[in-house]
Amino acid sequence: MLSSVLALGLAATLVTAGPCDIYASGDTPCVAAHSTTRALYSDYTGSLYQVQRSSDSTTTDIGPVSAGGIADSATQDSFCDGTDCYISIIYDQSGNGNDLTQAPAGGFDGPGTNGADNLASATGAPVTLNGETVYGVLVTPGTGYRNDVATGTATGDAAEGMYAVLDGTNYNDQCCFDYGNAETSNTDTGSGHMEAIYFGNCTVWGSGAGDGPWIMADLENGLFSGESAANNADDPSITARFVTAVIKGEPNQWAIRGGDATADGALSTYYSGARPSGYNPMIKEGAIILGIGGDNSNGAQGTFYEGVMTSGYPSDETEDSVQADIVAAGYGTS
Ligand SMILES: *[C@@H]1O[C@H](CO)[C@@H](O)[C@H](O)[C@H]1NC(C)=O
Repeated sequence: MLSSVLALGLAATLVTAGPCDIYASGDTPCVAAHSTTRALYSDYTGSLYQVQRSSDSTTTDIGPVSAGGIADSATQDSFCDGTDCYISIIYDQSGNGNDLTQAPAGGFDGPGTNGADNLASATGAPVTLNGETVYGVLVTPGTGYRNDVATGTATGDAAEGMYAVLDGTNYNDQCCFDYGNAETSNTDTGSGHMEAIYFGNCTVWGSGAGDGPWIMADLENGLFSGESAANNADDPSITARFVTAVIKGEPNQWAIRGGDATADGALSTYYSGARPSGYNPMIKEGAIILGIGGDNSNGAQGTFYEGVMTSGYPSDETEDSVQADIVAAGYGTS
């Protein structure tokens, strides 16, 4: 009896604490928190994202329906009624002002662009959270978001963690559907200048077991599934519709973790160990990218629902608690 009461109390704590509350209690606070589907702090009441109407170019902000709640998609639906809408800003919930906006041109001149990347359709990736419709960020080739003047993100060899919830079935083999730390110059400044989550079946650098897709780390000048940019059989092909992808790094140590974002149970560790040769120390620059590579390589596709970057190297236990919160959020398709 006592143990079941304690278990109930613990479960209630997990449900009410958002991902960033959990990272904070693990002493690895979020320094950037992005989601178009829900608040990532239990007390967050600010805006989640901004949509822009193509009919008259006006914008409106979409917040959570309540503190710490899911996105108020009804406001988007009425604002965008009868016209196309695009996601123009993905706000940072961490308080650091690390908003993501249309990525500028970079070293790589991608498909159909000779300048800034495209914005995602605001209705391209509808999903449900415990049965209520919300919208993710559908990245088609040529789409990308960035912040080159981020505050509080890891630079140099500083430790950081990150996770993202993605659509495990929307990917391709182009470079690079990423979320995480990248160059501030929009150009490739060399090995170790990035540390970002990659998701897809690009085989130009590393790869994992089977045909993919895989969670890998984009460390610049290479996608890594393990210590070397080679085939690492411990990095499995992902089959889940909703996948939680985790990358973290600290001096001469980094890890890939992942799991089904809708399945109870801990995340699995696909790699944990030393830096690749030539990547110790890291030379992280602290910009934030979504949907593109560090040099604005924008041939990839994917779908992003939520993600954060932290200060410090999160423990596996902290990440497992975050995974429990993601599972409780109830991602699904209608
Ligand atoms: C990536 O996956 C797609 C879809 O299954 C497939 O058509 C493509 O050939 C794959 N690319 C590589 C490099 O394996």
